Amino acid sequence: MYSVPQLGILASGKGSNLVAIADAIAAGELNAQIAVVIYNNPDAPVRERCQERGIPHVLLNHREFASRELLDDRLAHTLEQYQVDLVVMAGWMRIVTQVLIDRFPHRILNIHPSLLPSFPGHRAVQQALEYGVKITGCTVHIVTLEVDRGPILAQVPVPVLPGDTVETLHQRIQQAEHKIYPKTIGAYLQRLRQLNE
Ligand code: GAR
Repeated sequence: MYSVPQLGILASGKGSNLVAIADAIAAGELNAQIAVVIYNNPDAPVRERCQERGIPHVLLNHREFASRELLDDRLAHTLEQYQVDLVVMAGWMRIVTQVLIDRFPHRILNIHPSLLPSFPGHRAVQQALEYGVKITGCTVHIVTLEVDRGPILAQVPVPVLPGDTVETLHQRIQQAEHKIYPKTIGAYLQRLRQLNE
C-alpha cells in the first residue's frame, strides 16, 4: 500500500460525503488522499464539488454499458489506473457485481442511511419513516455481493422527531454520516495496514 493511502470514491449524487471526507483529509484528521472520484450521472452535483476542489474525476455513465459486469470491469480498471487502495462508496446508487468485488477484495466500503439490517436498498429514509421507527441512523459496512449486507464497521443512531419529513430526517442522518464516515475509513485503513505488515 502507498505511504499515503489512495481512496477511490464512487458517487452518484450530491457529494456531501465526498466533501466531508475531503475536509477531514484537509484538516489532518484522515491520513489519505482522494486519487479519483468516479460518478455515473453526467449532471450529478458531485462533479462540481470535485471541480471546486481540484479532485480528479471520471464519468462512467452506466447507461453506456451493456451490463453491470461491463460497468464494473471499467470501474475496476479505472480504480487500478489511479492505484487506489480503498474504494469508498459515497452515495453510489448501483448494484455491485462480483467483478468489482474480486478486484478489490475486502477493500470496498459503503455508507447507508439506516441502521442495517433494517431498511436496505433504495429509499431507506422513507422506508424508516413509513414503518414508524423512533430511531434510525446510518451504517458503514464492507461491501459484499448481497446488497447492504456486508460486515458492519460502524453505526450511529439518529432519533426520528415528530413532524420529520424524508428531507429533514435525511439531513440529520447525513450530519451523522459526515462524522462517522471519515473516522471509519481512517480506522479501516489502519486495520488494512496492520494486516499488510
Ligand atoms: C447518503 O445519505 C448515503 O447514505 C446514501 O446516499 C446519500 C448520498 O449523499 N446512500 C444510499 O442510499 C446507498 N444505498 P451524498 O451524495 O450527499 O454523499
